[in-house]
Amino acid sequence: MLGFLVLPFKMIGVLVHFPQFEPTFNITQFFPELHSPFAQNINTKLLSPIIALFVVGITAAYFCYRKKNAKAKSKILVLGGTGYIGKFIVKASAEAGHPTFALVRETTLSHPEKSKLIETFKTSGVTLLYGDLTDHESLVKAIKQVDVVISTVGGQQIEDQVKLIAAIKEAGNIKRFLPSEFGMDVDRNHSVEPVTSYYEKKVRIRRAIEASGIPYTYVCPNAFAGYFLPTLGQLNIKDPPRDKVVILGDGNVKGIYVKEEDIATYTIKAVDDPRTLNKTLYMRLPANVLTFNELVLLWESKIKSTLERVYIPEDQLLRYIQESSFPANLGLALGYSMHVKGDCTNYEIEPSFGVEASNLYPEVKYTTVDEYLNAFV
Ligand SMILES: NC(=O)c1ccc[n+]([C@@H]2O[C@H](COP(=O)([O-])OP(=O)(O)OC[C@H]3O[C@@H](n4cnc5c(N)ncnc54)[C@H](OP(=O)(O)O)[C@@H]3O)[C@@H](O)[C@H]2O)c1
Repeated sequence: MLGFLVLPFKMIGVLVHFPQFEPTFNITQFFPELHSPFAQNINTKLLSPIIALFVVGITAAYFCYRKKNAKAKSKILVLGGTGYIGKFIVKASAEAGHPTFALVRETTLSHPEKSKLIETFKTSGVTLLYGDLTDHESLVKAIKQVDVVISTVGGQQIEDQVKLIAAIKEAGNIKRFLPSEFGMDVDRNHSVEPVTSYYEKKVRIRRAIEASGIPYTYVCPNAFAGYFLPTLGQLNIKDPPRDKVVILGDGNVKGIYVKEEDIATYTIKAVDDPRTLNKTLYMRLPANVLTFNELVLLWESKIKSTLERVYIPEDQLLRYIQESSFPANLGLALGYSMHVKGDCTNYEIEPSFGVEASNLYPEVKYTTVDEYLNAFV
């Protein structure tokens, strides 16, 4: 048995070493252990096609395997790819080898900044499809070409995603839908207005997806690092504070900050993963779960200076939120939810509803807050 298994390899060895080999030979010359009359009568006229078939078979199997693997990568459509988080998602999808499609509005092509971004999509092999969230036909046509839909539309378009749900339902081919979430868990929070109303829109979209039976994943990375860390969440400044820092609450509540590229990497990994099916994907990256006080200490250690700390107690913060206008009230209310009520971390992720990204994908080397802050020293 062993002799037959190694036979093809031995024969290839023979061909390599004796290109001028005789057209016929006795197989026992190479396999003394084969002494049956059948084996002894095998000659190269029979063996050569067997070897050729074997080599062709192995080669075909290899290419089939590669093709199957290439096919296993879902085709991904991103709606909102020209937006803040959307551009990272499009890039990560294309880089991960997914056939990637971006639905863009034709009017956006003439936008000076976004037209450049769209050019980079094209050079990365992304297929551009023209359409609009409010144009049902364009949505169905785009959706029929893919397996997965990721929506990264902005705050103004959250409710319009009911149109996307209707189009996905009509197309009937979508294996996974990721609606525009990308924040804290809207089903588990202690927000106040105007955040409450905003979250309620996302909650309604969740319930509509669940009622429609479309397979989904909700992505909750918590705070975008790029939104928060460059200023340590201080309003009306552009650079990180070097003398004074305002801290919401007592600063002892854990928040979570995740770099946009990492959010995109984890999101794309989740689309074909059965473990994320009909679940929320949370990003609680251990090195990036920090209290505000820890964050300030970390920053101080980098700039080798001590900041004056101004603490805003909860009742005072709630008054500020009520008295301020948009968008300051939104920023403060998000801060209240994260830094005072602890809505990034104040619940357990139960297997019945969620999974955690760094547990699922330990191979991803995410950027830590410590590393991220180095860029601002
Ligand atoms: N966790 C955090 O810290 C954080 C921070 C910010 C946002 N978020 C969340 O991330 C998600 C995306 O927000 P974002 O700020 O990245 O969005 P954004 O920058 O406002 O981008 C919105 C995208 O939607 C597209 N769009 C708008 N109207 C459309 C329409 N009618 N049809 C098709 N596309 C349309 C825009 O296209 P055009 O280019 O054509 O305008 C753009 O690509 C939201 O759910 C938001 O709540 C989270």
